[in-house]
Amino acid sequence: MITESEIQERVRQLGQQITNDMAGEIPVLVGILKGSVVFVADLMREIAGPVDLDFLAVSSYGQETKSTGVVKILKDLDNEVSGRHVIIVEDIVDSGLTLRYLNDYMAGRQPASVRTCTLLRRQGTQTADLEIDYVGFDIPPAFVIGYGLDARQRYRNLRYIAEYTGQ
Ligand code: IMP
Repeated sequence: MITESEIQERVRQLGQQITNDMAGEIPVLVGILKGSVVFVADLMREIAGPVDLDFLAVSSYGQETKSTGVVKILKDLDNEVSGRHVIIVEDIVDSGLTLRYLNDYMAGRQPASVRTCTLLRRQGTQTADLEIDYVGFDIPPAFVIGYGLDARQRYRNLRYIAEYTGQ
């Protein structure tokens, strides 16, 4: 669906945009485990200047393929974000419930600002009302794998994004 070079080019653009928006600040990138690991690793290297990195682990789908809307924090931030400019980095936004929950959760920790960034946004499926600051690609309503995204924990190491049709 999206080639390695298309991803690289778009991640470079997002990094430049964040560099410009965050001029003079040291943002904290908060990657959402595990799906955003590959994206956040590439994105942070496309940002010029210092950045901090932290991770949150959440359970949203579990073994299911549909969001329940219930988000449980499995691993919290290592460092306080009060007074900091936070950018939440997600792999894909489907219903948007996970990202909206995380946005509210982060906002409750007195940051200077909270922005949201997702590599992929599935078209026509968002039920949660949330403006996303940085979107890599809008994709058709298919289940996708690769570049960090999994189907039952597999295929995260693909260098490209593919539609998942198999078992
Ligand atoms: P939402 O809360 O409905 O927006 O779901 C977002 C989360 O569901 C993402 O962070 C992924 O973990 C997972 N997810 C949604 N769609 C896909 C997909 O196509 N492939 C892999 N994971 C997905």
